[in-house]
Amino acid sequence: MPCFCRRLGNLVGPGEKSDARVLNLVEHCGISSPPRGNAAWNIVAAPTRRSIDMATATPKRDILRTLRSEHDELRALFDQINDTTDRAKKTRTELLGRIEGGLLPHAKWEEDVFYPALRERADRDGKKAIAEAYLEHHAVESVVMPEVKASAADTPEFAGAAKVFGEQIDHHASEEESTVFKLARELFTPAELAEFDEAYEAWKDSASGTLAVGAEKLKGTVKTAGRALA
Ligand SMILES: [Fe+2]
Ligand SMILES: [Fe+2]
Repeated sequence: MPCFCRRLGNLVGPGEKSDARVLNLVEHCGISSPPRGNAAWNIVAAPTRRSIDMATATPKRDILRTLRSEHDELRALFDQINDTTDRAKKTRTELLGRIEGGLLPHAKWEEDVFYPALRERADRDGKKAIAEAYLEHHAVESVVMPEVKASAADTPEFAGAAKVFGEQIDHHASEEESTVFKLARELFTPAELAEFDEAYEAWKDSASGTLAVGAEKLKGTVKTAGRALA
């Protein structure tokens, strides 16, 4: 419930009886039941039938929530890899594989589907933010990630490259969350964001998604070989 505390005061004050406000809170924060002992939720403790339906409804899907949670998973994996020593070759290799496995479909889908759709509706500043995001993807895919993969996992060079890799991803993800996602929240309806979420999940399981990610992986392998030979 990441947004609950921040928005509770604005949306559902003690004693308020607005169904629309409850719906907003449920949609925004994905809350399906009220926290215990919170006076501000008195309305939910004694709701109308409509409020019950809305408050207990399955939260809507939301592509921004999915992408943000994938960012957090990547951040956690980078925390783990940064905590390893040069002796942890196997663990580093395994963590790097998981990072790549999470990053490639995420980035590829953003580049091929999400960014273009957003760009169609964005104004100049929005288009600029999307151009920045594309370029950051490109820098990571072409330089940073091959550098990490070209380094032997039991060396300080690997540790340094992995740290930069994590910093780049964190920078990109944070900027994406504060600009691109904010823009998407303004330009797409909740129904559209839910459709994107369904489409993303289906794409990840599809043959075309697997092929697209496989092609990215192959490109990365070629770049890594180029770095290793340089
Ligand atoms: Fe991105
Ligand atoms: Fe992202």
